[in-house]
Amino acid sequence: MREVRLSLFGFGNVGRAVARVLLEKELLFREKYGLKFKVVSIADTSAVVWLPEGMALREALMVKENFGRLSSWTNDYEVYNFTPEEAVREIDSDIVVDVTNDKNAQTWHLAALRDGKAVVTSNKPPLAFHYAELTKEAERRDVPYRFEATVMAGTPIITVLQDGLKGDTVERIEAVLNATTTFILSRMEVGLDFEDALREAQKLGIAERDPSGDVLGIDAGYKATILHCLAFYPVTFNDAHAKGIAEITPEEVRRARERGNTIRLVAEVREEEITVEPREVPKKDPLAVESHENAAVIKTDLLGELVIKGAGAGLKETASGVVGDIIKASMKLRES
Ligand code: HSE
Repeated sequence: MREVRLSLFGFGNVGRAVARVLLEKELLFREKYGLKFKVVSIADTSAVVWLPEGMALREALMVKENFGRLSSWTNDYEVYNFTPEEAVREIDSDIVVDVTNDKNAQTWHLAALRDGKAVVTSNKPPLAFHYAELTKEAERRDVPYRFEATVMAGTPIITVLQDGLKGDTVERIEAVLNATTTFILSRMEVGLDFEDALREAQKLGIAERDPSGDVLGIDAGYKATILHCLAFYPVTFNDAHAKGIAEITPEEVRRARERGNTIRLVAEVREEEITVEPREVPKKDPLAVESHENAAVIKTDLLGELVIKGAGAGLKETASGVVGDIIKASMKLRES
């Protein structure tokens, strides 16, 4: 049995969903993979709670849910106000798990990698702006740097582009990568107005804490940038052209519907260009997704068109990608 020490950054909806999966599937992961996970620290915006012997996850969930912040937790645990970078340096762990929204998390991802710690993240901006630096550092140190949940939640598009299609040349990817906009547009199709639809998406935990990034196409732009880095070569979000759905009117949604079409926020990723914009797509097109689904059509020279479709947001759906990466990173650590 290999014991793997996890340092969890972010204990919001996704962080807690990850903790729940680790708790509920503890036995399965021991039996199936020979892995025993020990969460040695948890950080939220109020504090870092650290116990080298491993924390009681059930209790951590209870404290967070009842008091809203980890700093209220005093029983037996040391509570620190480290910055993430200090926490990464101080706390002995095997894998740093980032499920925060910290736009500057690349600094502590790099600190972790330089320290020989693996990183698993669902946080998009570090990759959308610093992909080359982060992946090079991970390669140089020969430590896993995994980010499946940054694009399409647990639907494994990153794995397909990293590990599949080895002999293929990707020609283009067309994809619907943002669930909030799909949710809003499909609710507008049945008569809801924009604001009510957005509120619903927020209630379901699909939208980001600040949903303007979803609505303005920035979230889809981050994801399209990450796909470009994998399919072609590293670029940054500054190279993408992103337009959102803020200007789409109920009238346009209705007219598209009358033509048998639907409006979706479509990302097109080509070697020379990344664009994100609302487009009318036929109702039968793979991109005419519903609810919190995402879809991507990857066109390659050998395979032709490959369609990947599945949940693109949601709590357990995102935890699927994060926990899958924790397992893969642990297996790689075991080999070395
Ligand atoms: N806010 C994102 C979306 C969540 O709506 O797709 C998943 O990244």
